[in-house]
Amino acid sequence: MKMIGLKQKKSSFLINSRMKKMGIRNKIRKKTVQEELWEGNFGDSYIERNNSKELLASNVHFFAKIFSKINPISTCIEFGANIGLNLKAINILFPKIEMEAVEINASAVKKLIDIVPEKNIFHKSIVDFIPAKKHDLVLVKGVLIHISPSDLDQVYQNIYNASSNYVLICEYYNRTPVSLTYRGLEGMLFKRDFCSEFLTKFSDFQLVDYGFAYHGDPICSQDDITWFLLKRVNK
Ligand SMILES: C[S@@+](CC[C@H](N)C(=O)[O-])C[C@H]1O[C@@H](n2cnc3c(N)ncnc32)[C@H](O)[C@@H]1O
Repeated sequence: MKMIGLKQKKSSFLINSRMKKMGIRNKIRKKTVQEELWEGNFGDSYIERNNSKELLASNVHFFAKIFSKINPISTCIEFGANIGLNLKAINILFPKIEMEAVEINASAVKKLIDIVPEKNIFHKSIVDFIPAKKHDLVLVKGVLIHISPSDLDQVYQNIYNASSNYVLICEYYNRTPVSLTYRGLEGMLFKRDFCSEFLTKFSDFQLVDYGFAYHGDPICSQDDITWFLLKRVNK
């Protein structure tokens, strides 16, 4: 009995230290207010406001511009995919691409199934998501701004662990972190320099390109998003 106890202790120590190395947390966590918001009615209403052919067309233009400079990609995962309008656009540009998605809102997940195979959808928070494999591209668009700043480090780590090559961050930018009122709610939207924070944390990534998509663009209207394309470099 004693031997088994010792063996178990040793193997759980090994698992824990391996998880620690990969930046994976090993404890049950209380959901943040931001996560609770997106899981509930607030998240459902977002789906109703943001589901149109125009948005899809704009996404196709948006990604076509960004991906004109990259090597072909065959796998992609989106963190915070909502109903899949980004992945649908990417699938138009790369018809054979294998896609995965992480999404916290159950109603969005139900619609995502039309675009991403059910087995490739992870209905959970990107804070808790443990990537089982690496993808040519990790996309996060309009999501980091809604993550509690205290969880950002973990999310950066999860993005890093999920990427074999490219990371595309498309978010509201501010050089220094600021918190804004979002749809009348305090503490639900944070602007900062997500790109430089990621690059500071992971020196094996480099900036490939960056740009801005203006809400007033007649073809590619994107809610004033700043995008950063990062690539893993061998060191
Ligand atoms: C502003 S929407 C952006 C949706 C999509 N990325 C796009 O560009 O249209 C934010 C999305 O992230 C999801 N989300 C927010 N916090 C999340 C979290 N902690 N884990 C997973 N998904 C999250 C929301 O449910 C919602 O679908």
